[in-house]
Amino acid sequence: MQIITFFNHAGGASKTSSVRDLGYLASEAGLRVLLLDLDPQASLSRWLGADNAPNEQTVMNAILDDSKATPLPTPLEVFGMHLIPSGDGLRKLEGQLYTNSTMTSRLKRLLRQVGGSYDLVLIDTPPSTGLLTQMALIAAQGVVVPVPVVSKGAEGIPTVQSLIEDCQEMNPSLEIKLFLLTQYNPQIRVDQEAYKTLKQLEALAPVSTPITFRKAPYGEAQAIKKPIPISHKGEAADKDIRHVALEFFAVLGLVVRG
Ligand SMILES: Nc1ncnc2c1ncn2[C@@H]1O[C@H](COP(=O)(O)OP(=O)(O)OP(=O)(O)O)[C@@H](O)[C@H]1O
Ligand SMILES: [Mg+2]
Repeated sequence: MQIITFFNHAGGASKTSSVRDLGYLASEAGLRVLLLDLDPQASLSRWLGADNAPNEQTVMNAILDDSKATPLPTPLEVFGMHLIPSGDGLRKLEGQLYTNSTMTSRLKRLLRQVGGSYDLVLIDTPPSTGLLTQMALIAAQGVVVPVPVVSKGAEGIPTVQSLIEDCQEMNPSLEIKLFLLTQYNPQIRVDQEAYKTLKQLEALAPVSTPITFRKAPYGEAQAIKKPIPISHKGEAADKDIRHVALEFFAVLGLVVRG
């Protein structure tokens, strides 16, 4: 089982969209996929039709249990994947993590307990460097950093690296697996320049082919609560994400059916 955290503290980088669509494509390719929504905004859960999850369906109780007897909740089934959704409970959980930061290492153990059931766990994080995000980085083997291809896209990378370095103290093998370039508008000259700059991240970790900015499909997919490869099957947005999914599988060394 590989546990991959999607992290960029910058808001709106396409973390949640990427977890939804790459998770779906991994599952379509025959992998057993668990999605874990650790963002109190709960966008991932909402976009997959799991709105307003009660606390019992979130990771909250399992993390808070000092006796360590509470397992992860039974996940929901969405489009062939499993999902542990977010809900209001995660705001409460975040507050508790600040009172006892040793709790941030509990997610790793809880995921190990379900290791036999999954090939791939994808964790969606909030746009912050707070303790929910740190918990997700401490639990993971790898990080995917979604970066929008815009002029300020690279600005947050030093903070991303610095938080990963902090978390490596508790999780030494944590590494960036992929810079996932998103929201690229190839007609805009400053975005072309941004793309050139972001390609230089290759010195740190692999950099994906950029996913094109396509406003309508992304809005529609959210509205009808489906991943892009279902809502816009065969269309340009679907082809884009499928191409990047192959790069994602390759950097993880995942063998998937063709
Ligand atoms: N390739 C794209 N083309 C057009 N819109 C996109 C694309 N990717 C994502 N979006 C839109 O951009 C917005 C931000 O994306 P998303 O919510 O996935 O990012 P995020 O990093 O999870 O945001 P947050 O930091 O708030 O959690 C969403 O409205 C989403 O629909
Ligand atoms: Mg998000």
